[in-house]
Amino acid sequence: METKLQALKEEAIAKIKATLDTKELNDIRVKYLGKKGPITDLLKGMGKLPAEERPKMGQLVNVIRQEVTTFLEEKKEELEAKALEERLASETIDVTLPGREVKVGNHHPITRVAEEIEDIFLSMGYEIAEGPEVEKDFYNFEALNLPPDHPARDMQDSFYISEETLLRTHTSPVQARVMEQKKGEPIKIICPGKVYRRDSDDATHSHQFSQIEGLVVGENIRMSDLKGTLDLFAKKMFGADREIRLRPSFFPFTEPSVEMDISCFKCGGDGCNVCKQTGWIEILGGGMVHPNVLEMAGYDSKTMTGFAFGMGQERIAMLRYGIEDIRNFFTNDLRFLSQFNHTEL
Ligand code: PHE
Repeated sequence: METKLQALKEEAIAKIKATLDTKELNDIRVKYLGKKGPITDLLKGMGKLPAEERPKMGQLVNVIRQEVTTFLEEKKEELEAKALEERLASETIDVTLPGREVKVGNHHPITRVAEEIEDIFLSMGYEIAEGPEVEKDFYNFEALNLPPDHPARDMQDSFYISEETLLRTHTSPVQARVMEQKKGEPIKIICPGKVYRRDSDDATHSHQFSQIEGLVVGENIRMSDLKGTLDLFAKKMFGADREIRLRPSFFPFTEPSVEMDISCFKCGGDGCNVCKQTGWIEILGGGMVHPNVLEMAGYDSKTMTGFAFGMGQERIAMLRYGIEDIRNFFTNDLRFLSQFNHTEL
């Protein structure tokens, strides 16, 4: 019986060592150690042994069971570790694989220019105000000293929604709206936004474009304040050695009114294609707020005065980036827009 037991043990261990999967290993366990296995059979036959041999045999059977169990467990661990290793290897993520390129856009050139202008005025203590693009005739014209039938309305024909509602033709109605809200208080604002005019589109005209308006109202605001402000703006926007000049002009809502030119940033004033050989580039219109406009908004024009100015964002962006056709800003051609993706202002 002892040799039989030893032979069974060797046989079981050899099978355990040879097996390659956990299911087979379990079969081996059931076969040798299970209730119907040969070792159990041998134990059952113990009754036939002489009484003095029984304890020795019992002990041997236990030792053999223990040994086989140990081998089984070791093998089980080994197989499980191997399986885990294989699974990890097959599931490994290759972090060196290049990712899919994400197309990153950037701000539109008009937005970039507007933000730059806003930053300059914010640094001078201005606040940003906005108004509706669908505007009342009252704010767009009447409150700005342009009564019905005023001839200057011809220069700003618009898209009318009804008799008294239209797409605003400039950002100046925001002046009238803010003055109305502030009820006689001092004001220092800039107003960026889209404006509309009935116009035939060409390289320099668009029925939709953008402006930035400026308005300062307070005690003792003078023409020299307007000039100093515009001079600082021109230098910050177009270079420290820019000069400005103010030419007389006309707007119904400012008196006196001016156009501001800057000395050409390309040729410095000698004359070139950018300044059309004049040495000067027209940038904006402005002037002292007309007393009628102040009075209509409830300001006492004897004690409160103000200046205002307005400029076209597209025009400034065209000068800044050397763009020759205004329509480029609106056609959404990515070949045009992507040129600005990595440009530093
Ligand atoms: N609103 C005027 C325009 O669109 C510009 C302007 C603004 C002029 C403010 C004077 C004062 O032409």
